[in-house]
Formats: sequence, structure tokens, C-alpha cells
Amino acid sequence: MQISPPVLRYVGLAKHVLRASRHYSTRFGYAHSRCLVFSNFGQPEKVLKLHSYSVPPPYDDIINVKFIASPINPADINQLEGVYPEKPEFTLELGTGDKSAVPGNEGLVEIVSCGSKVNPSIRPGQWAIMSGPNFGTWRTYAQAREANLILIPDKEGLSPIQAATVSVNPSTAYRMLKDFAGLEPGDYFVQNAANSGVGRSAIQIGRLWGLKSINIIRDRPGIEKLKEELRTIGGTEVITEAEAKDRRTMARITGGQPVRLALNCVGGESATNLARILGYNGHLVTYGAMSKLPFSVPASALIFKNIHCHGFWISAWSKENEATKSQMIRDILDWIRDGKFQDVPYEVTKWSEDTGLETLMEPIKRGISEYSGRKGIFLMEDD
Ligand SMILES: NC(=O)c1ccc[n+]([C@@H]2O[C@H](COP(=O)([O-])OP(=O)(O)OC[C@H]3O[C@@H](n4cnc5c(N)ncnc54)[C@H](OP(=O)(O)O)[C@@H]3O)[C@@H](O)[C@H]2O)c1
Repeated sequence: MQISPPVLRYVGLAKHVLRASRHYSTRFGYAHSRCLVFSNFGQPEKVLKLHSYSVPPPYDDIINVKFIASPINPADINQLEGVYPEKPEFTLELGTGDKSAVPGNEGLVEIVSCGSKVNPSIRPGQWAIMSGPNFGTWRTYAQAREANLILIPDKEGLSPIQAATVSVNPSTAYRMLKDFAGLEPGDYFVQNAANSGVGRSAIQIGRLWGLKSINIIRDRPGIEKLKEELRTIGGTEVITEAEAKDRRTMARITGGQPVRLALNCVGGESATNLARILGYNGHLVTYGAMSKLPFSVPASALIFKNIHCHGFWISAWSKENEATKSQMIRDILDWIRDGKFQDVPYEVTKWSEDTGLETLMEPIKRGISEYSGRKGIFLMEDD
């Protein structure tokens, strides 16, 4: 989002009380922002361009922010492709020739300076994350309003990567474990794509809440290492898709204890199998469709096991649960500070004044490829 104040406002700029930090990039208070932009939906490498624009000093309720870290999530790619329900608004506000938008939905910012009407509790130097989707986080500077941000009350003990990645994947896992099946300590849940960002979060939150997890991953070279990694962060069992289809394997794992919740990131056959694994009154929650395949639920699972099917979308949930979201973020950040919650494997792409489009495209392309294994994160370097 870029908010362009009327020119007249600058005339009286000196009258505004601006709380500025050392991050002003020019002596007139303008920051030079670099961003990725797109004007049409399509394959990221075809539609993304690098663009620069000036961010003026803030006024009234405007807050100038500097991006510190911005993850590259599958939803960002889907949004670029035009197959995600949340679509950014294409505008001319950034001074691009065609109407454009900045991609990226999740990110960590530092408050740089505030207009005179900004809540005084918001101060330069504080960290904040985006309160909802569509802000456009793949950029270096921007202007925001208080409603766009969730302040991180204490950045002590947090790395930028940890704070930048808290609002989508860990939050999704937290809600799905908490809100659907009334799980109690000792209960089982099962999930596919268990090595994903959401999957790893579910494993760790499940462990903290005393839940037992059955974690399904796709077969690959070196799978034992990945299995061990997921067990180390708290996965009770880690099995392949083929092993999960074998009823004897499931019976051996659970000893007949019903599985009450299934988290589906994949769709297709993998999701159908989750419905088979669930016990009586089990809940199947779909939050992703990585295989891009629809799935069927066996009639027997619906009739004889009374399986309940749900979907979950953190964007929609966040809009209706602002206060609960802030509290949940605080819970997760506390676990991180206490060393109880580990980062997903990630790969940083440093973004400085000189970084070119080709370099910025690398993690985006990697995010589309199979078995990429590491979340791509833009880490903005101080200029
Ligand atoms: N509904 C929501 O609110 C919500 C919130 C967060 C995320 N999501 C969705 O959840 C999914 C995972 O997001 P993330 O950030 O956790 O992803 P991530 O860390 O990038 O992991 C992607 C996962 O998808 C698997 N995968 C990729 N292509 C696949 C395919 N063709 N068939 C089966 N599995 C495949 C990967 O397994 P391999 O290692 O085997 O490739 C990996 O486990 C995405 O679809 C995302 O949009 C939804």
C-alpha cells in the first residue's frame, strides 16, 4: 500500500510533529523504496518487475515503515498466478506506467516515523507485522496505518526471521489444532505435507499441547534424515504416503486409538486417505491444495464414521478475530523466546539497494519447484 498525501500537506510539513528515526534515507525525510511489482497475473518470472519509488514523510495517521524480512509463501505465488481468492488492488500509486501491485502478504517491519495523529504508543524502532493480507510486503519501505499492523510488544529474544514468519503458518496450525476437534492431551492428529511450514508448526504446537501426531510426507531421496528431523521437533510418528495407506501401519501406530483430527495440505489421493485414517466423529480440515487435485471422501467414512469436513483460511479468520489473533501471536512469540518453537528451515535472499531482479527471482522460482525444503525469505539490508 502506498498512500500519497496531497502536495499541499508538504507545505505545512514543519508544523507536524514527526517522530523520526535514523532510517530516513534523505535529508528531506523521503525514503527510497525498491519493490517487486506486477501488473498482470501470470507466471512470476513473466510478470514480476523491479521498481523504485519515493516514500514521502508521514502525516496525520500515516506510519512510515521499513521492511526487515518478508517471506515467500505458496499463497504469494498463487496470488501472482491469479488463482488465489485474495487479489491485490492494481493502482498507479507507485508511479508505474501500468496499474500495478506489490506482491507478498507476510512481513516484518520496523516503524521509522509517524504522523502527528498516530497513536503515541507506536514509536520509531518498534517492530510490527502485517495484520492482514494484501499489504504488498516484497519491498523495502512503505506507508501504513495502525490498522495494517500488529505491533510486536517486545522484540527481545526474537530474530527477524522468527517474527516475520509468525502470522501465517504457525497461526494456521494453532487454529486448526485448537478450533475443530476439541482435542485433549494424548489425542492423535494426522497430517499430510508434514514437512511444510504449517506441518512443522502443527507438530511443535501439538507437542506443546500434549497431542500425538502422525506425520505423512512424500517419499524422496534421503527421507530418513527428514523423518528424524520431524521426530526431533516433536513428531510422534513420521511415515510416507505409501506407509499411510497400509492399515496395519496405522493400527500399529495408534494401537486402535481413534485419530480425531486430520490436517489436509495436499488434496487428491492423499486427502482421501486422511478420511480413511480418521476415527469415528473425526474432523478433516483442508487448508491447502498443493497437489492441485480435488479429492473424494468415501461414502463409508461419512455414513459409518460420521466424518466432518471443513476448510480453514487464516485470512478470513483473522478479519473476524483481531483481538484473538494478537493474543495468539503473543503466545507463539513467547514459545519462540523460550526456545520451545523452532524456525522452519529457510534460505535468506539479501535485498540491498543493488540487488537485481534476477537475484530476487531465485527464491520465488525455488518456491515453485518440488522438494524445495526451505522457505525463501527476503532479508532487507540496511542502506
Ligand atoms: N488456509 C490457510 O489459511 C493457509 C495458511 C498457510 C498456508 N496455507 C497453504 O498451505 C500450504 C503449505 O504452505 P507452507 O507455507 O506450509 O508451504 P511450504 O513450507 O512451502 O511447504 C510446501 C509443502 O507442500 C508439499 N508439496 C509441494 N508440492 C506438492 C505436491 N504436488 N503434492 C503434494 N505435496 C506437495 C511439500 O512437500 P515436498 O517436500 O514433498 O515437496 C511441502 O510439504 C500451501 O498450499 C499454502 O497456501 C494455507
